[in-house]
Amino acid sequence: MAVLVTGGAGFIGSHTVVELLNEGKEVVIIDNFSNSKPEVLNAIKKITGKDFKFYEIDYLDREKLEKVFEENKIESVLNFAGFKAVGESVQKPIEYYTNNISGALVLLDTMKKYNVKTFVFSSSATVYGDPDTIPITEDCKTGGTTNPYGTSKLFIEQILKDIYTSDPTWNICILRYFNPVGAHESGLIGEEPQGIPNNLMPYVARVAAGTLKELSVFGNDYNTPDGTGVRDYIHVVDLAKGHIKALQKLEKEQKGLYIYNLGTGNGYSVLDMVKAFEKATGKEVKYKIVPRRPGDIATCYADPKKASEELGWKAQLGIDEMCKDSWNYINHK
Ligand code: WQD
Repeated sequence: MAVLVTGGAGFIGSHTVVELLNEGKEVVIIDNFSNSKPEVLNAIKKITGKDFKFYEIDYLDREKLEKVFEENKIESVLNFAGFKAVGESVQKPIEYYTNNISGALVLLDTMKKYNVKTFVFSSSATVYGDPDTIPITEDCKTGGTTNPYGTSKLFIEQILKDIYTSDPTWNICILRYFNPVGAHESGLIGEEPQGIPNNLMPYVARVAAGTLKELSVFGNDYNTPDGTGVRDYIHVVDLAKGHIKALQKLEKEQKGLYIYNLGTGNGYSVLDMVKAFEKATGKEVKYKIVPRRPGDIATCYADPKKASEELGWKAQLGIDEMCKDSWNYINHK
């Protein structure tokens, strides 16, 4: 019996495949390399010393997807496939909704056809919009997303709830990620943003490496300790391990719909992260303060208690490891 991982060559997918293989799971990956590279597959093999099956397909291609279900005994599906650039989603809403929502629907419909009903979905803290209370618990209200990327996550969550209502033999886990950063400690896999990065940590890493001149800090007039935005940065390896725990929970329960925040519960500001990066790497990160970025909120961090109590999962790695491992990955390439 195998775990099907869509988007398994991507940032979070590849780290999760490593953990699945380390757990002795049989893995089947599909990826169309729209935002990842084939070399990642060899890197996963090198890290784990284990093999897996791979199909270069788009998850919107129903015929090819069905072939994967025909040729393998799939018992569960982890869905990492999808577009994820917030800014780009505002420019390309049709592409984002088609890829993320139609892709999820084709996948879920195919699962239904082959009677595979165990599903783990990569959602995002962005579904909380501008949260009323911090730290954010899973029962905080959702909605008020400000871009098609976030709205696609919100819609897919609703689709999953509706599927579960229609057939409670489904076994679904929605994981709401906070801000994933870092890389595998081997330096062999990590985040590979195309072009100029939008997210903070890849940008900081490139300033330290000298490929970008300086960081623009988006606003220092927020109601936070140093005025810059506060987020819950989580090491991608901790995040990957959260998926293993989620899968174990589903295997134990056999049916249900579960929602968990995957965050550390700690909030760090932009300037905290700049300092941590400088400390971990010994490199200077030049920055300037610029106006706020539209759509940003002041503070966002998780209450990770539910995942700790129900999954037995807690983030282990702190910002020093996040910075060190990002840097190690950049220097490995
Ligand atoms: C973090 C902080 C910025 C860049 C987004 C998505 C979310 C998830 C993760 C994933 C904020 C500040 C950033 C820069 C800066 N998506 N910043 N200068 O916005 O919390 O979350 O990424 O796939 O859904 O919304 O992450 O890394 O962009 O920003 O000052 O050049 O860094 O204002 O306070 P964000 P981020």
